[in-house]
Amino acid sequence: MSELVVTNHPLIQHKLSILRDKRTGTKQFRELIAELAMLICYEATADLPLKDVTVETPMCTATTRVLAGHKLAFVPILRAGLGMVDGVLNLVPSAKVGHIGLYRDHETCQPVEYYCKLPGDISERDVFVLDPMLATGGSAIDAIHQIKQRNPKSIKFMCIIAAPEGVKALQEAHPDVNIYSAALDEKLNEHSYILPGLGDAGDRIFGTK
Ligand code: PRP
Ligand code: URA
Repeated sequence: MSELVVTNHPLIQHKLSILRDKRTGTKQFRELIAELAMLICYEATADLPLKDVTVETPMCTATTRVLAGHKLAFVPILRAGLGMVDGVLNLVPSAKVGHIGLYRDHETCQPVEYYCKLPGDISERDVFVLDPMLATGGSAIDAIHQIKQRNPKSIKFMCIIAAPEGVKALQEAHPDVNIYSAALDEKLNEHSYILPGLGDAGDRIFGTK
């Protein structure tokens, strides 16, 4: 079974409280999503392999460590996942970015696919799928199915708020995919929105309704 990592860092909890607040406007909401994505990415990349290098400091020769050259790709699920891209690229500027377009049908809550463009060399990459909300898990499960058809080296899923229902469904469908989140919320409501949640992430990032 895959791991669920919920990061309880005080900065994350503070930013998340402002993000949840319905009075928070679009500009600040966007900034917070990017900042939280960067902080979760820090956690999700904690096991990247390192190799030794020799560096001449102004004082002496030192053996230090750099990333061992693993290639990464970030794949946001459109639309709301786009809000996380700038934040994660701040930490890993050399990563490639793919896109998967999915939306939840409002009646059935089932994901509807409309776009998929992934890096051509994705089979050589460790992939991080980005979506702020893991509700029923349908969108994440579907996106990861699409990515797996292209044989990436590994997949992790990064979100900002997860519902227990979505975590269970994603772990059952993809037991090899670890989940990184800033919060594990209480439950879904009758429309499959997360409680307490933050409302509709895409609408709040892009100012639509
Ligand atoms: C939201 C969210 C996830 C999905 C989560 O997207 O960004 O992709 O719902 O719900 P699930 O876990 O039940 O699948 P939405 O369908 O609202 O599309 P949008 O980002 O285009 O607004
Ligand atoms: N998608 C959202 O944007 N919010 C939810 O609470 C659930 C799905």
